Amino acid sequence: MEVKYAVIPCAGHGTRFLPITKGVPKEMCPIVDKPTLDYIVEECLDAGITDIVLIVSEGKEDIKKYYDLDPEYEEELRKNGKGQYADLIHKIATKAKFHYVTQYELLGLGHAVLQAKTVVGDNNFVVCCGDDICTYNGKSPVSQLVDSFIKNGGHTVVGGQTVEHKNIVKYGAMNVESKVDDRTYKLKGIVEKPKLEEAPSDLASLGKRVFNSKIFDELEHTPRGAGGEIQLTDAIAMLMKKEPVYFYDFVGKRYDCGDKLGYLTAIIDVALSRDEFREGLLEHIKSILK
Ligand code: UTP
Repeated sequence: MEVKYAVIPCAGHGTRFLPITKGVPKEMCPIVDKPTLDYIVEECLDAGITDIVLIVSEGKEDIKKYYDLDPEYEEELRKNGKGQYADLIHKIATKAKFHYVTQYELLGLGHAVLQAKTVVGDNNFVVCCGDDICTYNGKSPVSQLVDSFIKNGGHTVVGGQTVEHKNIVKYGAMNVESKVDDRTYKLKGIVEKPKLEEAPSDLASLGKRVFNSKIFDELEHTPRGAGGEIQLTDAIAMLMKKEPVYFYDFVGKRYDCGDKLGYLTAIIDVALSRDEFREGLLEHIKSILK
């Protein structure tokens, strides 16, 4: 049993991030010197993923351009004695096999994932939202989820964490049937964006899941749900009637980069984690706090 594919839906409008998303996909907004999306791709590669399936829509051409080989530009850089930059951009284009699938109608996350069926086929796969990054020491959250998927016999694993009770209303909340171990729970349901008093737990789904190919059958039969969209959560609920579905509480710090404040905190934390910026940035922060 192996997981070699990652599907990253990047087709959304990014309304919460207007006005920049009118001209630039939010997945391409930089965190220091790399697009948000590339942190997600790297996290997947850290988990042994070899094939990245990017679900895109019209206006997201910059994504493909970023991952395409550009031999002319590389040659120009090398001619000008800037070989290290040529190596850098060459590595970006060759670090994985990139596949692109267009979602012509934006009918929701479930619909976006279904578009990947033609590439993924019968293989197991990870789904990571294109605007959700994690920082981590040690194993990447995707890698932890893949381990859990294999340990649980190749059944769906929804990744997430415990959030502050007042915040559970923003996420899918887990309805737990039983606790399997310290970090793993068997589920009996997921309540999408519950009212505070109706939340079954504070365990929140946070943008990463691992599936076997059976989820495609469910997605093909999932009626339009909340907001008239085909919801991935609804397909998982249908799958749950046929086979076990688990939740894994991953270790790592997660940032919602589709939200302006989440994006800003990600930039600060990533910059502080880099030696070349840490001291200067800390000095600046201290001077503001004074
Ligand atoms: P979001 O709901 O956060 O993205 O979906 P959005 O629709 O772009 O955001 P807002 O609400 O308008 O600001 C999570 C991920 O799923 C993708 C998005 O691109 C994002 O990475 N997505 C969403 C699709 O690929 N297709 C869709 O139809 C919906």
